[in-house]
Amino acid sequence: MPTDVLVLGSVNRDLIVHAPRLPVPGETLRGQRFASSLGGKGANQAVAAARLGARVALAARVGQLEQGAALVAQLAGEGVDVRAVQQPADEAPGVALIVVGAADGENQIVTVAGSNGTLPLDQVESLPLAGLRWLVAQQELPLASIARAFERARTLGVKTLLNAAPYRPESLGLLPLCDLLVVNQGEAQSLLPGPVAGAEDAARGLLALGPRAVLVSLGAEGLVWADAEGVQRAAAARVVAVDTVGAGDTLVGALVTALAEGQPVAQALRFAQAAAGLAVSRTGVQDAMPRRAEVEAALACA
Ligand code: RIB
Repeated sequence: MPTDVLVLGSVNRDLIVHAPRLPVPGETLRGQRFASSLGGKGANQAVAAARLGARVALAARVGQLEQGAALVAQLAGEGVDVRAVQQPADEAPGVALIVVGAADGENQIVTVAGSNGTLPLDQVESLPLAGLRWLVAQQELPLASIARAFERARTLGVKTLLNAAPYRPESLGLLPLCDLLVVNQGEAQSLLPGPVAGAEDAARGLLALGPRAVLVSLGAEGLVWADAEGVQRAAAARVVAVDTVGAGDTLVGALVTALAEGQPVAQALRFAQAAAGLAVSRTGVQDAMPRRAEVEAALACA
């Protein structure tokens, strides 16, 4: 079966603690719950897209130490094509320490790159990109590898989506290689040279830095999309947010699924917002990611 979407991205083991609220520096809190699960922005976006019906592959580097092979097996079980995942025997996979505060569902995340940080350029040179509709990347991998993959994609007519998360100042150089840049408000502000009046201004400012389209996600306030035709807003789904970890990954996975299907932008934005709304209304990262029928049911009720 042909692949429509290739995610070039990170795979982490997420160590997730639920606490009454986020701790302040130096504070020890008693948590309520602990879970260890498959995560990483690349893995999350690939799983989100697969659950929504995309034909998706993941290119990644997942060390076999510390049971890294189990992470890859789980991805394959989700229907993600993992043939482009390298599994070095002598490296450990990435790890993310995540605290979720029950008071408002906000979170803190610290990652250690592990094998994500050693993804080499030659892995990117050999990626089969011809025939894809979209190549998707985030910023938990070496940026030189992402740049090279985007350059190759562009020459083959494959569209490129960069989720510039987490923020890295060097990513400014990637923006001219992007068909679509997806950021949250904090990332948008960090990428821009100075303060902006609001999300529309931020989206226009980012557009001037080189991408063909920009999406600024505003959480409960919806999102702003800017391209050569102008700026549009899309409302967020009306839900009670209990856990926002991975919401951006669900948004990206859903958006690229819809765009790869040829949905018009406004419809794709509604689809992505509905998927993200479902994800934040329940706990967990991939555990919270919806399947296609749930998103369609939510859209039908909206
Ligand atoms: O976006 C959420 C993800 O960020 C988590 O799964 C964690 O692994 C970090 O990469």
